[in-house]
Amino acid sequence: STQVLKCDPSSISFDADGVPLIKSSETLAAIRTASRHLVEDLQTVAFPTETVYGLGALALDASASARIFATKGRPPDNPLIVHISSQYMLLSLLPAGYTIPSAYRVLIEHFWPGPLTLLFPRDPAKIPSIITAGQPTVAIRMPSHPVARALIAISGSPLAAPSANSSGKPSPTRAEHVLRDLGGKLGLILDGGFCDVGLESTVVDGLHEDGSIRVLRPGGVPVEDIERVLQQNFNQGAVPKVLVHRRDFLDEDIEQAPTTPGMKYRHYSPSVPVKLLRTISKPPPGVEVITPLDLLDSLKRSMTSCKSLKVGLMTPSDSSIVEGLVNDAEIQWHQYVLGSSAEPAVTAQRLFDGLLTLEKAGVDIILIEEVSEDREGLAIMNRVKKAAGEAYWITMSA
Ligand code: TXA
Ligand code: MG
Repeated sequence: STQVLKCDPSSISFDADGVPLIKSSETLAAIRTASRHLVEDLQTVAFPTETVYGLGALALDASASARIFATKGRPPDNPLIVHISSQYMLLSLLPAGYTIPSAYRVLIEHFWPGPLTLLFPRDPAKIPSIITAGQPTVAIRMPSHPVARALIAISGSPLAAPSANSSGKPSPTRAEHVLRDLGGKLGLILDGGFCDVGLESTVVDGLHEDGSIRVLRPGGVPVEDIERVLQQNFNQGAVPKVLVHRRDFLDEDIEQAPTTPGMKYRHYSPSVPVKLLRTISKPPPGVEVITPLDLLDSLKRSMTSCKSLKVGLMTPSDSSIVEGLVNDAEIQWHQYVLGSSAEPAVTAQRLFDGLLTLEKAGVDIILIEEVSEDREGLAIMNRVKKAAGEAYWITMSA
């Protein structure tokens, strides 16, 4: 059975070198226990980060990291992120004599610790190939969650950690999500409460010769913030270009290989079908645009004769289509309210929790309303499009 140990993140602080000071004895004991699982038993441990819960194992031990793949049912060609607790740990992982690119220095200064993952060249003598799935690069991030950072620091070793979910499922943002999905498959979960950011880190590749900063996966750090920080720290004319995968560049290699997060495999899907309600974007030519009433009709047609349909509905708090839908009494509605359309960070925080909460409530289908792709919205829509099998284009005018 899986043990769950509570941690109080507010009882943890760090000195300038990243050494943790833990005031709560319960939290200290929990983190020490987790560290023993990792270091002495080479086991996996689930722990909170500011983005989502991670499933950690010693990054520099190939057999420990192999357990991550087994626990998640993760395809072996999908590389893992290495989590560190200090800049010193970063240097210890890089090839000898390697110079960190100036754009990375700026990004590290502004966004670490935090939800930003950077690709670095892999030193094969240091990083086991199982971590990088044979890629010549290794993804590294320094999480800001006190429990994550303290666990890494006390273990004295970087931790490889994907999101702590079965491959293909939504990422967990609460300890109970991990327990429901992976309970029995791992020994220990550290429960540090819910994850503030709620979406995975932004994955950035700045190793191209053209000096561009390529966003492979949008995430917790908005692209707008990366652009602003680079503009503020480089001379005019020397500001690195920020390119977003699929928006600004398409990379054949990335399309083919699974190195780009979520490209090859199904992702973020609960066990019930998810449909996207397009209310903002322009429908492509030829696509049918329907009213909320048409949508209700279509849902009812799919209803089996004896039982009433349970529909999960995830919409912004200021949604304009909710009222037209939930007044219909023939359907049992389960509403999950996201942030207002002016608060994409709140929607990000609630997205995976909404999918997992509605799945647990036993709904037959989940409808998610589109949000604009500004700031966190880009990462939100990236996840939603992967979770949703199909989209309906909705118009309010009959
Ligand atoms: O916020 C996060 O990043 C969370 C928390 C736990 O830190 N972790 C996470 O890990 O989302 P995971 O494994 O679910 O997603 C990491 C993604 C993978 O989809 C992988 O394709 C990509 O990062 N990745 C890892 N190494 C890479 C590399 N060398 N090149 C390109 N992409 C890489
Ligand atoms: Mg994941």
